[in-house]
Amino acid sequence: MKTPRIFVPNDATAIACGADRIFRRLEDALAARGVTYDIVRNGSRGLFWLEPLIEIETPAGRVGYGPVKPSDVESLLEHGFLAGAPHPLCVGLVEELAYLKKQTRLTFARCGIIDPLSLADYKAHGGYKGFERALELGPAATVEEVFESGLRGRGGAGFPTGIKWRTVAAASADQRYIVCNADEGDSGTFADRLIMEADPFCLIEGMTIAGLAVGATKGFVYCRSEYPLSFVVMEKAIAIARQAGLLGRNIAGSGIDFDMEMRMGAGAYVCGEETALLDSLEGKRGVVRAKPPLPAHKGLFGQPTVINNLISLATVPVILEKGAKFYKDFGMGRSRGTMPIQLAGNIRHGGLFETAFGIPLGELIYDIGGGTASGRPVKAVQAGGPLGAYLPTSQFDTPFDYEAFAARDALIGHGGIVVFDDTADMAHMAKFAMEFCAHESCGKCTPCRIGSTRGVETLDKVIAGERREQNLVVLRDLCQTMKLGSLCALGGFTPYPVLSALNHFPEDFGAAPKLPQAAE
Ligand SMILES: Cc1cc2nc3c(=O)[nH]c(=O)nc-3n(C[C@H](O)[C@H](O)[C@H](O)COP(=O)(O)O)c2cc1C
Ligand code: SF4
Repeated sequence: MKTPRIFVPNDATAIACGADRIFRRLEDALAARGVTYDIVRNGSRGLFWLEPLIEIETPAGRVGYGPVKPSDVESLLEHGFLAGAPHPLCVGLVEELAYLKKQTRLTFARCGIIDPLSLADYKAHGGYKGFERALELGPAATVEEVFESGLRGRGGAGFPTGIKWRTVAAASADQRYIVCNADEGDSGTFADRLIMEADPFCLIEGMTIAGLAVGATKGFVYCRSEYPLSFVVMEKAIAIARQAGLLGRNIAGSGIDFDMEMRMGAGAYVCGEETALLDSLEGKRGVVRAKPPLPAHKGLFGQPTVINNLISLATVPVILEKGAKFYKDFGMGRSRGTMPIQLAGNIRHGGLFETAFGIPLGELIYDIGGGTASGRPVKAVQAGGPLGAYLPTSQFDTPFDYEAFAARDALIGHGGIVVFDDTADMAHMAKFAMEFCAHESCGKCTPCRIGSTRGVETLDKVIAGERREQNLVVLRDLCQTMKLGSLCALGGFTPYPVLSALNHFPEDFGAAPKLPQAAE
């Protein structure tokens, strides 16, 4: 009989939900039964409400059980879990789950399927095919392939990746760098973490291709300090790749040199801003640099630097493997390809949903996400992190597209969507946005440093009902100053959540606090 392969996820979400304890229980229970087994510690598939999702390989495919508690292990085994038998926790064939079936998984194609630290598994699932094609194409054509794919930066600004790479490739220098922005500070986002913990070689391959394309021999991953597990998994994967000759000098006999290292972030939201990140990486305090010069001309240690979000870099292998046209055929308008949308906050089916651009917001929240976890009506969502606007349900027809969101003064950002039900008080959410800015401001420019603190004070007065109309005029004026006068998007975009809350929910800015109503 074939040794049963059991999959117990090993990423931070699953571990937080008890996956390690389940793994140990399973090991003990199987040993006690004298059963030979092979437990693979995969990464999460991103269906977080089912975590820990335990899977068993059967002739029909992988059958899932979740969310499993350590105390369920005995019952699972008694009900014939090793044969994929029915059980109250059984969700059937995982690949057939609607949440997965409706997705177009390009960047996340391997997440949850492979053993994250098995290079053989990675290669068996298409790994390093993109790098091989980049070698065939050569540097200039690789840059053009990325340009042609229409890939735009997934960190927030949506800048075309190919243009950034062209600029760095054209800059004259002895040393160029690839910097991966894995600071992932936006609320409700976890896509970077999932790649690092579930498919780390994908990032390594993407950065290697970037190095080949622009002539950089050194890369750094700036990983947020709140991701200790990602950091460890990445360090292990880098060591494995180096050992296999896929990092270092003369990669796979190609004549290409590229190596990379992990760096731990400083724990500040502003260190996700690319120039503050570069300062932090150089060992300085993370303070935003004035541009120009652009990092593409003068970046890390004053050298031309590609600084890209992790998802931008992790999408490069599939673009090279399948071709620019294949990737570009997904999406709408100028938003090409797919986006890993992260559903979070008060939502029933929170998790990662990779899909082509263009899906309406309402479909994501209701059809995919199943509405709120509380069962109450949705009031609003905040898209694009703490600097993103609040969208009321009347705007749920907005397609997930950079330009369509911008037309509504909203942001796609890094693809995070945080859902709020009707008990949320939007005046307090507006105040929170100002407080966040005041707390995270790097202090370099006055509109942000001082404006955010004045914003908190003004909102306090509005909430207390103190000269409400006059203070709302002051608040709008202040927001205008922050928008136009701030050096970076932290101060410049904080007005968006504040003003969207005020414009869409003016009733919440009255003197009397809003009391929760009974569920309908
Ligand atoms: C305050 C602030 C925080 C940011 N945080 C992040 C972050 O956590 N991760 C990220 O990739 N980009 C972040 N960005 C955007 C980066 O400055 C930059 O645009 C991005 O790294 C470029 O990569 P991309 O073109 O691949 O998106 C932030 C920007 C600002 C203004
Ligand atoms: S807007 Fe805020 S975070 Fe950005 S440079 Fe100015 S003070 Fe620093």
